[in-house]
Amino acid sequence: QLGLSVYDNGYLNTAVCRSSISYIDGDKGILRYRGYNIEDLAMHSSFLEVSYLLIFGDLPTADQLNMWTTRIMRHTFIHENMIDYLRSFRYDAHPMGMVTSALAAMSTFHPEANTALQGEHIYQNENMVNKQIFRCLGKVPTLAACAYRHRIGRAYNSPSNEFGYTENFLYMLDRLSENNYVPNPRLSRALDIIFILHADHELNCSTAAMRQMTSTGVDPFICLTGAASALYGPSHGGANEAALKMLEEIGSVDHIPAFIEEVKAKKRRLMGFGHRVYKSYDPRAKILKQIADEVFEIMGRNNLIDVAIELERIALSDEYFIKRNLYPNVDFYSGIIYKAMGFPTDFFPVLFCIARTAGWLAHWHEQLQNPIPIFRPKQAYEGEEPRNYVPIDERV
Ligand code: SDX
Repeated sequence: QLGLSVYDNGYLNTAVCRSSISYIDGDKGILRYRGYNIEDLAMHSSFLEVSYLLIFGDLPTADQLNMWTTRIMRHTFIHENMIDYLRSFRYDAHPMGMVTSALAAMSTFHPEANTALQGEHIYQNENMVNKQIFRCLGKVPTLAACAYRHRIGRAYNSPSNEFGYTENFLYMLDRLSENNYVPNPRLSRALDIIFILHADHELNCSTAAMRQMTSTGVDPFICLTGAASALYGPSHGGANEAALKMLEEIGSVDHIPAFIEEVKAKKRRLMGFGHRVYKSYDPRAKILKQIADEVFEIMGRNNLIDVAIELERIALSDEYFIKRNLYPNVDFYSGIIYKAMGFPTDFFPVLFCIARTAGWLAHWHEQLQNPIPIFRPKQAYEGEEPRNYVPIDERV
């Protein structure tokens, strides 16, 4: 449940929110989803199986996974009017802005799911809850693919249910005319693992936004809009785009020492480094480093990986970073991998959004099961003492 806001050294900390979904030990660099280590899930599971685990609390049986996959893949199409809406954006609209706007629009495309029209009681019905979960998980990759095609000036592709979840996403991104296009299974597997790593992460900024919106009783599409809006920020889901731009700016290992000095002089931030919770190596970054080699084997090597590895080596041996517990986080390597996969940098937060939709929906689902009063963090007032009104002709 939501605890009261707590004060520490006179500073207002955020409210405590209890959850059973993810567990992080920031000092030991541990991340678990529903008790399973992220390393095991990345190695053995799939993104849809992990989505089921996050939302319902246990790994599905074969029949449950089959039903879950079938229901989600039946909801991958979007309304033609939504396609017209997406087509109405400027040719150079930021893909994350398009996806965030489309999530809000989804609330109007499904009036029977809109609590402003139907009332909150509709989400006391399990079938209604599950149907919105299927819709969101099914449609977000399609919205993302439309935003990508818009970004590159190409016609949008319809989903194909002959592929798996992540394969279908890759299929919608490319090859309109080539009917025999089949996504590379190794590339789909690499992206599926990346989605697993990004699926949930305790009460990060965007998930906190999801839970705040859920407490108002608004429908899940609008909740996702708020969460995606928070993720859009450069200090959150936009950090992988910022980290890649930083590595491209550094350009070569020879330029690293000068850059490190700028960081230590506080003129720059080392994007993709540091974390509010991890004060050790982000376990997701370790796995991403391994995936990078697999992706480079398929798509060709991105030499920026050499800059990233050397930058990490120098930073982790420098007292400035060691003293501040600054280590690579999930965003340090993901941008290099996405670039090697051929994604434009402004599409990176959209990839994060596809994966984190599973975690956001898990928190929505959990909060529906354990309703809390509307979020209302306490404020520490530091304003003026009471004073009398001054007529305008007496003001100086
Ligand atoms: C994500 O919450 C989540 O779980 C988020 C996320 C998820 O999965 O949802 O993990 C995804 O958002 C990862 C974080 C991505 N953001 C970045 O990579 C942007 C760069 N990182 C920082 O801006 C920063 O590290 C934060 C915001 C992530 C965390 O900052 P903290 O823990 O609040 O640290 P701080 O601001 O208190 O800094 C402590 C010291 C300061 O120096 P001093 O004042 O003590 O001298 O460390 C310094 C900071 O200046 N510092 C950095 C730094 N991060 C902190 N110095 C250089 N580069 C950095 N990246």
